[in-house]
Amino acid sequence: MQLLEAIHTRRSIGKVQDTPVEREKIEQLLEAATWAPNHHKTEPWKFFVLTGEGRRPLGRTLADIAAVKMEDPSTPENQETLERQKLLPFRAPVVIAAAAIPSDDPKAVHIEEIGAVNAAIQNMLLAAHSLGLGAVWRTGLPTYHPKMKELFKLREQDEVLGFIYIGYPDMTPKPGTRIPFAEKTVWIEEDQL
Ligand SMILES: Cc1cc2nc3c(=O)[nH]c(=O)nc-3n(C[C@H](O)[C@H](O)[C@H](O)COP(=O)(O)O)c2cc1C
Repeated sequence: MQLLEAIHTRRSIGKVQDTPVEREKIEQLLEAATWAPNHHKTEPWKFFVLTGEGRRPLGRTLADIAAVKMEDPSTPENQETLERQKLLPFRAPVVIAAAAIPSDDPKAVHIEEIGAVNAAIQNMLLAAHSLGLGAVWRTGLPTYHPKMKELFKLREQDEVLGFIYIGYPDMTPKPGTRIPFAEKTVWIEEDQL
């Protein structure tokens, strides 16, 4: 698939089959991720590949985070909500948690470290699409909760930036829509600012 075609036709695929994804394809996604641009060559990413029962701790953490906000987590309705949280990571056979590990290099700028990891995630999404896989970048506020950092043994300054749910597509996405670039672009061709 040509790059521009992949960029245009990639869509978030929220519904995927349970069929396992070949390890070599997952490795191709991770390899693509590491080719993202990164300032001062800090390569500030870290990936956690969750498959099989390896998805269970993420579900438990999502439930723990949800429980904190509940007055009484033991009510039947709340228990049901918590059970649903535990199952969320099982929506795809592979979930890749992407984290930013900002470099200690004094030249490194925090926002750039985060930006580099976001670029790595986009590389992964495009690679998944080009390999015939479906993927969606999922977050939600629990992503940024201290308990999530604890789960992945991250430091305070590190950030979980999202969970990439991956599998073989089990849906046909609607065509994408975007505001034309012209409405998001200012051409500056004279000394006018
Ligand atoms: C930082 C970030 C977080 C996202 N979180 C979610 C999410 O939690 N759930 C979800 O269904 N999609 C999530 N998405 C995917 C967007 O909903 C999706 O990219 C958008 O609707 C455009 O659709 P497309 O990816 O098919 O072009 C997220 C995207 C980004 C960039």
